[in-house]
Amino acid sequence: MTGTADAARPKYPYFEEETSVDVVNARMGPDVDPRLREVMGVLVKHLHAAIKEIEPTHEEWLQGIKFLTDVGKMCSDWRQEFILLSDTLGVSMLVDAINHRRPNGATENTILGPFYVPEAPRYEHGANICLDGKGEPMVVHGRVLDTQGKPIAGALIDVWQTNDDGFYDVQQKDVQPDWNLRGVFTTDEKGEYWYRSVKPRYYPIPDDGPVGKMLAALGRHPNRAAHVHYIVSAPGYDPVITHIFAPDCRYLAEDAVFGVKDSLIADFTKVTDREKASALGFEPPFWSVEWDFVLAPKTAAA
Ligand code: BEZ
Ligand code: FE
Repeated sequence: MTGTADAARPKYPYFEEETSVDVVNARMGPDVDPRLREVMGVLVKHLHAAIKEIEPTHEEWLQGIKFLTDVGKMCSDWRQEFILLSDTLGVSMLVDAINHRRPNGATENTILGPFYVPEAPRYEHGANICLDGKGEPMVVHGRVLDTQGKPIAGALIDVWQTNDDGFYDVQQKDVQPDWNLRGVFTTDEKGEYWYRSVKPRYYPIPDDGPVGKMLAALGRHPNRAAHVHYIVSAPGYDPVITHIFAPDCRYLAEDAVFGVKDSLIADFTKVTDREKASALGFEPPFWSVEWDFVLAPKTAAA
């Protein structure tokens, strides 16, 4: 071995199957941001472990690369296929759970989804957010409380859901009225709110791209259990991004994005009384839902 060869010898061994993780991670420079060092170190460790366990052929590896390329190509201002991939692999719900460990009794978070639109119309109590007249009528009534059970006045309840054909207004710009099935309500001095809408139904997440093909290849359906989305916020409290789920939906136990939590399944009561229906401007039967949201105080970290 010449002196020149000694000088060229790397500080860490050349790449070998057994030492691959250490060799790759040792390549990071001394001034790398510590969090980036941690994140990349862990990712390389687990990625190499997965490859060593799977032992893919070159063809299989290229198939994986092609899949990720197709996911990227599907992304646009209106479509985020990588988030859909994260959603359908349970990663979005895991990140959500890690970041929203709330005290017992506080309303649990669930997935935001891609169809939230800020600045929805502000409505008075009782407004009907269903502007296309389709679906089974529903009235939702409840309160926003703190974890001690005290009503929170002036809380904002931002609500959105699909129409009875299973599409959000933004997916059908020329079909549905703008802001169909969206609105923001403010709780009164008793912490109460109420509004009218239609019973939510199950619907498929966008499945015309590579994630849809992946689900089909895995023998999975693309349906989300019937739900209504909410963001509930009030000054001094941790805002909650959540849903309520209809209890009779056949997809409750197999939501495509793992968003269902037991505590978010509401009671939907079918009301046939004609007088009660006509007082609400409905034809009977209609659905009545009582639902309280419980907000935890903002934590110092938040
Ligand atoms: C939604 O509930 O709107 C949704 C969530 C995740 C992926 C697609 C849609
Ligand atoms: Fe949704």
